[in-house]
Amino acid sequence: MPNLTVAGKTLEVPAGKRLVLAIEEAGVEIGHRCGGYARCTTCRVAFAEGEPATMTRAEYEKLTERDLFGQYRLACQIVCDHDMAIAEVAMTRENQGWTDTGPAPEATVTPEAVFYPIDELKA
Ligand code: FES
Repeated sequence: MPNLTVAGKTLEVPAGKRLVLAIEEAGVEIGHRCGGYARCTTCRVAFAEGEPATMTRAEYEKLTERDLFGQYRLACQIVCDHDMAIAEVAMTRENQGWTDTGPAPEATVTPEAVFYPIDELKA
């Protein structure tokens, strides 16, 4: 099982688990205000290690639209299939003053995910 390091702790997560859900399971109240559909960017994270080299088209389009490409990734669009370390969870219930983190994301990536090499999306 891959390891996820976030907020000073490392845990094993089942391979294929959505990163946003794994972060939540680690006890971090990460935002997911659109319910995990690559629409809101409140699930954005910065990687310390293990940033995936692939991306869904939905993630690519949202990050470029918001001028976040190259700085952040959308945790709702990533699955844990290798070891990852998160440097920053940008928006949490606590740091945003929200009463909740948003609608619960489904177990699998939505919209239905096809992962492309990032260079292919940039082309
Ligand atoms: S973009 Fe909204 S939860 Fe990921």
